[in-house]
Amino acid sequence: MNRKYRKTIIAGNWKMNMLASEIKPFMEQLKENLPKVRACDVVLCTPAVLIPALGRAGKDCMVAAGGEDVSCFDKGAYTGEISAAQLADVGAKYCIVGHSERRQYHGEDDMLVNAKAKALLAKGICPIICVGESLEQREMDLTMEYVAFQVKAALSGIDAAQLRRCVIAYEPIWAIGTGKTATAEQAQEVCEGIRAVIRKIYGARPARAVSILYGGSMNAKNAEELLACPDIDGGLIGGASLKPVDFSVIVKATDQD
Ligand code: PGA
Repeated sequence: MNRKYRKTIIAGNWKMNMLASEIKPFMEQLKENLPKVRACDVVLCTPAVLIPALGRAGKDCMVAAGGEDVSCFDKGAYTGEISAAQLADVGAKYCIVGHSERRQYHGEDDMLVNAKAKALLAKGICPIICVGESLEQREMDLTMEYVAFQVKAALSGIDAAQLRRCVIAYEPIWAIGTGKTATAEQAQEVCEGIRAVIRKIYGARPARAVSILYGGSMNAKNAEELLACPDIDGGLIGGASLKPVDFSVIVKATDQD
């Protein structure tokens, strides 16, 4: 982390878990455990139907609500889709785009991820743009090449002013939901590489200001070490974000000097 230049963000990704009736008890437990003074922004990205309830419950403990996906279209005949305007309307401040599960199960490509990020920016929502390599790519030593390509594609046509509202999440696919975390060295190396890619496109200042998160089996035990890395500005947390105590331990782990 480098709090001098950029925001630290701990974002949960609930995926397709939790019911509306579970939000109140979850938030009560979270509130009990979260420090009132924090070194980071806290966000919970949830299925869109849960955002209004989460927004209400999260208000008095400063937890922002976010979406997990968005349509690239503005409005109209797109049955089942949810627009950025609709997410903004129910109070979403952030939204994940390009999660590897969307890329894998819903055929999302880099062009679509880019269009979704732009749709969010147009409505004042911060996109959390996910990138990351497969195990095969890592073993073939293609990690940085592939991740650099994803970052460039996702940011295509986004100007420096808009970049300030973008968050990048480096999530190696092999570490997601597997309990296999990237080592702090591996995660730092790629996050530093992502910042270098952004520096090449936008220059030193914008690159220094962009928050880059690590995601992939981050938990209450390994968060501190990962968050101590200079180019890791927070976490995108799946499994551990469903446990209020563990999630709050991760939030507390941002309080390092
Ligand atoms: P995980 O998920 O923390 O359960 O590995 C992270 C993610 O998919 O964003």
